Amino acid sequence: MIKTAPSILSADFVNLERDIRALGPAGADYVHVDVMDGLFVPNITIGIPVVAAIKRISPLPLDVHLMIDRPIRYVEGFCKAGADVLTLHVEADTVENTRAALEQIRALGVHPAISVKPKTPAEAVLPFLKLCDLILVMTVEPGFGGQSFMEDMMPKLRTIRAWIDEQNPGCELEVDGGVNERTGKICRDNGANVLVAGSAWFKNPDPAAFCRALKA
Ligand code: DX5
Ligand code: ZN
Repeated sequence: MIKTAPSILSADFVNLERDIRALGPAGADYVHVDVMDGLFVPNITIGIPVVAAIKRISPLPLDVHLMIDRPIRYVEGFCKAGADVLTLHVEADTVENTRAALEQIRALGVHPAISVKPKTPAEAVLPFLKLCDLILVMTVEPGFGGQSFMEDMMPKLRTIRAWIDEQNPGCELEVDGGVNERTGKICRDNGANVLVAGSAWFKNPDPAAFCRALKA
């Protein structure tokens, strides 16, 4: 089954509650929350108190994407704030610390996940594959919404799909960056089952129709 995860980076932050409440009725499966620290990526977005506030009003599970340096420092805070899936970047710390952070997330009752930036090879997920409930393949350089989809990430997506099917079949495979109706189909054809969409979702005058098209 294909799932959708609208990224609220493209929502209207003045009307965040309104925009989040509209996601479920439009057919979304997760709320994708982008956390950036100005170090791991050149942008700053939201932190733990805002995730906790979103949790109070969101009927959908929160898919929290941490684009922060040494995320192990904040894993407990984001889990307690209400993340349902918590994604770390493999580039953000050592293998040892990343593994410890994923184990901590699991122990706190949250789904652990990892992400790879475009220049990071597929092999970087292998030490963590069995510890994760979701793997996120970035299809833009993380940091900003509204960038163009990198179709050259599709071989990496297919490789990771094959490893998931062999080693951890329950694990989800998510893509994030430049997803629209056309590129979403390319991602599905290459093995993704969770599609993040920010600008394409929130700019669309009919998000329910857009969501149906992504899942078609
Ligand atoms: C980028 C973020 C994405 C972003 C996607 O670093 O991780 O979630 O919001 O936005 P679009 O869909 O506009 O590329
Ligand atoms: Zn994201």
